Amino acid sequence: MVERESTQTVVVNIAELRKEYQQMGLLESDAPDDPFVLFDHWFKQAIAAKLNEPNAMTLATVNERGYPSARIVLLKHFDDSGFCFFTNYNSRKSQDLLVNPHAALVFFWGELERQIRIEGFVVKTSPQESDSYFRSRPFGSQLGAWASPQSEVIKSRQILEENIEQLQQKYLMSPQELLPQVPSIEIKKTSHISEMITEEKRSAAKSPLTQISHSETLSSQTSTLQTSFPQISRPPHWGGFRLAPTLIEFWQGRPNRLHDRLVYQRIDNSHPAHQLGDDSTTTVTAVPWIRKRLAP
Ligand SMILES: Cc1cc2nc3c(=O)[nH]c(=O)nc-3n(C[C@H](O)[C@H](O)[C@H](O)COP(=O)(O)O)c2cc1C
Repeated sequence: MVERESTQTVVVNIAELRKEYQQMGLLESDAPDDPFVLFDHWFKQAIAAKLNEPNAMTLATVNERGYPSARIVLLKHFDDSGFCFFTNYNSRKSQDLLVNPHAALVFFWGELERQIRIEGFVVKTSPQESDSYFRSRPFGSQLGAWASPQSEVIKSRQILEENIEQLQQKYLMSPQELLPQVPSIEIKKTSHISEMITEEKRSAAKSPLTQISHSETLSSQTSTLQTSFPQISRPPHWGGFRLAPTLIEFWQGRPNRLHDRLVYQRIDNSHPAHQLGDDSTTTVTAVPWIRKRLAP
């Protein structure tokens, strides 16, 4: 029973929370041989249904001691070679993936009574692919990638704000003094920003700075200055991963808990799961899929 105690507090009997699923079914006759075709179809339906962040997915990793952890990341690209997301390569998830490239993804699209589970192994996306996505990000997110030592303990939020402030000063307030003249700034807790400066010095020597337009703002000050802001380079510690699936399960909720579960699997003994490196080594895409129904 769910009872409203006051406008602020709701007392919930969790055991009573349940939902009968009855919108749709998933039959073999409707399921294509290729799970990417079905994923594409369901993903488009999730977008058409205007779900909140349909590309948000749970990523589960396992560390070197066998302990699992999970968090949400955003799917940024998919094709028949796999599912891509971007992150900080020094983060906890990345540390896990670097020692154990086996990982799992889960999408839950509750309004459509659907779940998709994906398992496989990850490889880093190529530097060109990471650069290309980084360039497409809003300016504020680009700066954030430099300013945040993801997964590290920091003393307070102020550290992040100070890092951003320093970046703004160097890159927004004095664009004419842009690298290589700007001396390295002292970074609170992390050296990422100085890495950026070093990186920028290298690229400034190589190529002229390009101008970009930015849609995201960090502050009103940023917003007024960012239109003339130079392109910043991708931090070397930031980039993408591609999960090449060996299993994809589609779950459609049905009445009386008799849900539909179709699982596509490919057994690949030759995949380079032990070598996390350039994804050109991926061979798994050549292996055919086998489809089975699982009991709910
Ligand atoms: C809706 C949503 C989307 C997110 N997208 C990403 C993402 O694409 N990449 C990322 O690194 N973190 C993303 N995060 C933050 C992660 O969930 C997580 O807090 C962070 O990556 C650190 O995880 P780790 O310490 O396990 O590495 C997102 C969080 C939410 C709630």
